[in-house]
Amino acid sequence: MTEHVAHGADEMRAFGARLARALLTTPARESLLVTLSGELGTGKTTLVGGLLAELGHVGPARSPTYTLIEPYNLQGRDITHCDLYRLRHPDELDDLGLRDLRGAGSVLLVEWPEKAEGRLGAADLALTLEYAGVDARNLVAEARLPAGQAVLERL
Ligand SMILES: Nc1ncnc2c1ncn2[C@@H]1O[C@H](COP(=O)(O)OP(=O)(O)O)[C@@H](O)[C@H]1O
Ligand SMILES: [Mg+2]
Repeated sequence: MTEHVAHGADEMRAFGARLARALLTTPARESLLVTLSGELGTGKTTLVGGLLAELGHVGPARSPTYTLIEPYNLQGRDITHCDLYRLRHPDELDDLGLRDLRGAGSVLLVEWPEKAEGRLGAADLALTLEYAGVDARNLVAEARLPAGQAVLERL
């Protein structure tokens, strides 16, 4: 487990960029599930935006607030950003087509994983974001599986 403090959105994006580099140096054998937990406004989407930008996405991250899922192909990898806040029932996950996006080397980034009620399976890496005053956030990164541990060690 590691803990970080991000002062301001730029530092949050910078953490996302570090995470992107750590993900890329990890052998692309299996698919990685990275969950982002934390109240509204704690910076989950900001972190993902920094990660996508580091991998070459130009412009702001499209928001998956209503579509629930935004697929990208960056650096030859399927990177999928999900926001399950508006998921009404875990059964709806089947309709999102996530299974097709979880091949070798893919990365699934999920905001509000709790809404899936366990249907996503275990996360490789679980990130938890918390308010730390008005202009800062605490960020706890916890590896839950060996692949997540390998990423954490490269952060
Ligand atoms: N480390 C940080 N410190 C201060 N403000 C931040 C930080 N990270 C993000 N923000 C700001 O918090 C707001 C909400 O961020 P957002 O990423 O949309 O949160 P979430 O996806 O968790 O709901 C945005 O205005 C963003 O710029
Ligand atoms: Mg968000």
